Amino acid sequence: MSDKDTSLVQVVEFPSLGDDRGSLVALEGKQSIPFDIKRVYYIFGTQPGVARGFHAHKALKQIAVCVVGKCRIMLDNGEEKEEVWLDSPTKGLLIEDMVWREMHDFSDDCVLMVLASEHYDESDYIRDYDDFIRQVKS
Ligand code: TYD
Repeated sequence: MSDKDTSLVQVVEFPSLGDDRGSLVALEGKQSIPFDIKRVYYIFGTQPGVARGFHAHKALKQIAVCVVGKCRIMLDNGEEKEEVWLDSPTKGLLIEDMVWREMHDFSDDCVLMVLASEHYDESDYIRDYDDFIRQVKS
């Protein structure tokens, strides 16, 4: 599934079902996506210089994919930080529970789609970095 299963950055390559008309990627829960998909959202029209995220989730798995354009994602599990560019509609990033994430350097055309394992729940967010470090160490 992933080229770096043991690291913080877990990239999932989606098969491209291309033919001479172009490309197609199909994402199915519990198949190419390693959880049942309860929610999909996408971020677009991000203004120049804007960074987003800056939070962790207590119990939420997500797959992020730039279906158009690119952005740089920084992940932090409280012990180490890693970065990855999402720059292909066939490249998904699995983000596990209790991982601080930041999204930077959105291209003007970026459409960042996120598939999530749970419905939106603000009480699942940890938005304060010091709080995140306290919770991840406890
Ligand atoms: P936020 O989580 O702050 O975005 P990001 O992490 O990308 O910086 O979300 C922005 C707003 O959108 C905030 O008011 C919560 C709302 N929101 C929903 O209502 N449902 C969702 O699924 C998400 C992700 C956000």
